[in-house]
This record gives sequence, C-alpha cells and structure tokens, in this order.
Amino acid sequence: MTSSIGTPSGSAAGHIYVSRLLTDAAMERLSGLDYPLVVGGQEPPSRGELLDGIAGAAAAVLTLTERIDRQVLDNAGPQLQILANVAVGYDNIDIAAANDAGVRVTNTPGVLDQASADHAFALILAVCRRVVEGDRLIRSGREWVWGPRMLVGLDISAGATLGIVGYGRIGQAVGRRARAFDMRVVATSSTRTSGTAADGTTFLSLAELLASSDVVSLHTPLTAATRHLINAGALAAMKPTAYLVNTARGGVVDETALIEALQTNRIRGAALDVFEGEPRVNPAFLTLDNVVLTPHTASAGQATRDAMGLLAVRNVAAVLSGQPPISPVD
Ligand code: GLV
Repeated sequence: MTSSIGTPSGSAAGHIYVSRLLTDAAMERLSGLDYPLVVGGQEPPSRGELLDGIAGAAAAVLTLTERIDRQVLDNAGPQLQILANVAVGYDNIDIAAANDAGVRVTNTPGVLDQASADHAFALILAVCRRVVEGDRLIRSGREWVWGPRMLVGLDISAGATLGIVGYGRIGQAVGRRARAFDMRVVATSSTRTSGTAADGTTFLSLAELLASSDVVSLHTPLTAATRHLINAGALAAMKPTAYLVNTARGGVVDETALIEALQTNRIRGAALDVFEGEPRVNPAFLTLDNVVLTPHTASAGQATRDAMGLLAVRNVAAVLSGQPPISPVD
C-alpha cells in the first residue's frame, strides 16, 4: 500500500519516496520537510510499487528490504538526488549504479551499535545457556524436573573465548559486553590479523580465531569478499564445542554448510538473526534444537529505530538543501 501526503512545494523537483512506514518520530520529521511524501506501508513494497513510488522522486528513504539496482535508478529519473538507507548495511543498493547516476547514498552508522551488540549478546547467552530450548520444554507441557545433566550448556563466564569477526563499532561493542562477562576476546578484521587493540582485544587471523574461539560472532558487512566467509572449511576449523552467532548478514554464512555442520554435530550450536534468502528461512534450521532464530531484529530498540529514521531524514534534508550528506557511503 502506498499513500501520498502533502503537495509539491519543495525547493527541488519531485517528492520524497518513503518505501516503508518508519517510526512516528521519523514520520513526523519527514512531514516537516517541504516536500510531498509518497509513503509505503508496513510491508515491503512489491517491485512494481517500488518502481512506481520512486519514479519522479527527489529523494528516497529506503530499508534493507528494497533492492536498488540500475532499473530502479533509471526508472526514478534524473531528478533523484539521494537514497537514504535506514540501515547501517547497504548491500541492498548497487553503489556503482548510484554513483553512475550521480545519486548520493547514505546509511545509519553509529546509532544502532548498542542495540545490535545487545542483541548479539542476547543470542550468545540464549544459545550457550539453552534458554530457548528450556522455554520450549516448559511450553510443551512435558513433565520436567531439575537434573544435574539437564540442558547443560557453556559457562561463558568461566574464561570462554569470544571470537569477533569484523571489529568495527558493533564488533567492539560486543567485545565490551563480553569483557564484562569475563570472556577472553579475540578478533579479526580485514585490516588487522595480529597485535592488540587499545581495549585489550587480541587480533588473530580468521583461521586462528576459528580454531581458538568457543563462540564466533559475525559483525562484518556483506561484500564480495565476505560472501560465504563462513563456509564448510571455516566451520570445520571451529572447535566441535563452539557456537556460531550471526547478526551481520545471512550471505556471510554458507547456510548449506552450516546446516550440515549442525546436523553432524561438527559444531555445537548457532544463533541466527539473518538469513541467506531472507525472509525465507531454510526449513532445516527449524528442525534443529541447538539453533536459536530471530527475525532480523538486532536493531529493533524503539530509541534505536527512531534514531535510524531520524538520521536518514537528516541526510535527505541536507542533500535536498544542497548540503553534503551526514553519513555518506558512496
Ligand atoms: C540492519 O541489519 C542494518 O544494517 O542496519
């Protein structure tokens, strides 16, 4: 569903296309801009709705569910000035095509670090301490009684090692939480595979990290270099007692290889907030007790979602008034 609000009175030609209904705070700020709005609904727009909504727009506020390629940019028209993605990741946008079309691209870095790290840590605790398995057991109505061997998991605070793949803002925020839990923190990134960070984190190569971590948590963007970074070989290099946590992007993990590793007890468990064919979830995951699944909600804190929307609106307001964008990615 798409609805139009306001009359064309902005200083640049065109409307502002908002592909999904954002939080009230962001919608109010958008309404205060001097442009008509064409606003999508709660659900992602169909391809046809996206093409229609963006046609003739001066700016587009998008979410990660919208795939922006050359066809969309051609269809938008030459008056389009900015694509403001309400996400820190921007693998849904063909940046080269946007650059070729002279359209600025912005994301929402910084404002979702704490929420995303909270969620990653919630998943680490949930999968290692088998919280969801316990919840399912009680809800099943089956009889249960305390037992010395019942739902025993990993003591993360007993010196377990957390391996963080991608040590940017979110990875570092996860590291801070892990240190508060007395975990040993090691990390790897595209730029550092040795030495020690100012916060005490030890940098390792990916191979060293995989071999030494009790929990591997992914915090890298999805790029050509990171697609299927965690493949069968990487999973085979992990400890058989280790857990994999992915709050980054589904494509960073080869899901077929992960399912095989879980089914054959090659690793002990996984917690996933993101999926390769999102929103489709491979049904094999649903059959595995040692997997915790959340529907891409790592940044879903109210204040965080407000801040993401507001930053996108500030980027739009800046670019439409001839100023540089606040958080460009191009
Ligand atoms: C969420 O996944 C984001 O990239 O902001």
